[in-house]
Amino acid sequence: MEKNVLVVGGAGYIGSHCVRQLTGHGHRPVIVDNLAFGHREAVPADVPFYECDLGDSTAVREILKKEDIDLVMHFAAFAYVGESVENPLKYYFNNVVATINLLKAMVDEGVNQFVFSSTCATYGVPPSLPITEDLPQHPINPYGQTKLDVENALKALARAHGFSSASFRYFNAAGAAEDGSLGEDHRPETHLIPLVFDAALGRREQIRIFGTDYDTPDGTCLRDYVHVDDLSRAHIAVFDRLENPGTTLHYNLGTGTPASVREVIDTVAGVSGRNVPVVEEARRPGDPPSLYADSSRAVRELDWKLRFPDLESIVETAWRWHRDHPDGYRS
Ligand code: UFG
Repeated sequence: MEKNVLVVGGAGYIGSHCVRQLTGHGHRPVIVDNLAFGHREAVPADVPFYECDLGDSTAVREILKKEDIDLVMHFAAFAYVGESVENPLKYYFNNVVATINLLKAMVDEGVNQFVFSSTCATYGVPPSLPITEDLPQHPINPYGQTKLDVENALKALARAHGFSSASFRYFNAAGAAEDGSLGEDHRPETHLIPLVFDAALGRREQIRIFGTDYDTPDGTCLRDYVHVDDLSRAHIAVFDRLENPGTTLHYNLGTGTPASVREVIDTVAGVSGRNVPVVEEARRPGDPPSLYADSSRAVRELDWKLRFPDLESIVETAWRWHRDHPDGYRS
């Protein structure tokens, strides 16, 4: 059944890809974004757009009513782990308080289906690998903690209000739309793949490898890079399950195949045909050595199939975006 879907943070990296998938699957997206990190240019001309902050509860309630919203997807959050350690209040205000405002507006308006952008950072340093959803969640930074706080609030809302939610714990979102028209543009950029492209394109002198003495095959950290469109499709595949009131769901989303920092650099060099100068540095504080997902729950319950199962195919989409948009979005 077609749904009217409010996409909060729909002008951002993952949100904008989800908006496109929603339209492709016959749903009607409506975007709310305060453009603090989102890009106006990533908003399609035919999608209703509200430049609005979640702190403005009256405006959010009006939008829920006016657009006859059935379900809310929430991507708007601050996501710099290091910054969250230095300025935790900023993260609690933006990721917890603002989300609670949104949830309150939804409860008040009787909108009770929610898809939440969570993170593997809620697991902290996992006791075993690959990470399954039932491993203990002990985040090691305020960013991960704020996401876990929202996951917990959602459980309470299910019991109290019959609220239904799915929290997706992303591993490392990567890649870009296949036609090269949407992509990753964080300001400041801290993520590995876009920074390696900057080095490949000569926009930065070199890529710094943070730590070469980890207990991993090549001494650098292992991560699970998963294509942003694969992530997005899971968000839509869960809709039917949210029809059941009081449902609380959690899913890991990753490919399950770890790649090291050196492998990422080599793949970018291979795909772009450019040289990538590197410099080896000390470990970045707070980086777990290895994080990769067991996503079999999503595969089983949502029939989730990866269209981009390998790093090379993910990096190829990212290359088209970075090659054609070396400065990112204009807006
Ligand atoms: N890295 C480098 N050099 C860089 C940037 C990153 O070596 O210039 C390394 C990091 O040390 C890490 C890997 O590349 O080992 C990936 O780093 P990213 O910053 O791209 O991503 P993270 O794994 O740190 O972060 C991602 C998400 C966060 C989430 C976190 C959970 O972006 O939102 O996973 O661990 F919280």
